[in-house]
Amino acid sequence: MQDYREYLDEILVSSDQLQTRIKEMGDQISRDYAGQTLHLICILRGGVLFLTDLMRHITVPLTIDFMAVSSYGVNRQSTGQVRITLDLERQIQNLNVMLVEDIVDSGYTISAVLDVLRTRHPRSLRVCTLLDKPERREVDVPIDYRGFSIANKFVFGYGLDMDEYYRNLPFIATVDLKRYRPDG
Ligand code: IMP
Ligand code: MG
Repeated sequence: MQDYREYLDEILVSSDQLQTRIKEMGDQISRDYAGQTLHLICILRGGVLFLTDLMRHITVPLTIDFMAVSSYGVNRQSTGQVRITLDLERQIQNLNVMLVEDIVDSGYTISAVLDVLRTRHPRSLRVCTLLDKPERREVDVPIDYRGFSIANKFVFGYGLDMDEYYRNLPFIATVDLKRYRPDG
């Protein structure tokens, strides 16, 4: 197993920067939903760290649920095809739903998930993403809360993986793909 320090290019968002911004987002969400309840839906697995930190800063009564999707993609590139591999536990009819995502890249994943959720008649439906790579967008998605807009570079850490590893790192880093050996 290759040590990530061998292919880490730069730390793009430090742990302190993440936590400061996530608190701001939680505060904003708490103000926007004052007097209401909120149902957070986390898309596994990348959104997990963001969800658990964000929800600590939200003061309105909230519930959580999880969903997992797989996109038929190759080479870290999504395609329009998204399959639900784990569906929600609870019905969302009449709930204020907010999708919590790690990153919106091409937009295909969120767009497909939104299409599914809309058919279930939530009271409201918003999108909260920690990271946004606007340059990569292929389908338009409405983003209501955005942590950071980042350049078109592959990143890992804080929920985001390199071939499933390094989701546990407390910061977000860019990869030097020239130095990355997928099997190493
Ligand atoms: P989209 O469907 O292209 O918007 O891709 C969304 C999913 O691709 C995210 O939920 C991530 O799992 C993954 N992804 C996109 N960009 C990155 C990245 O830079 N690092 C790690 N995962 C990424
Ligand atoms: Mg991934």
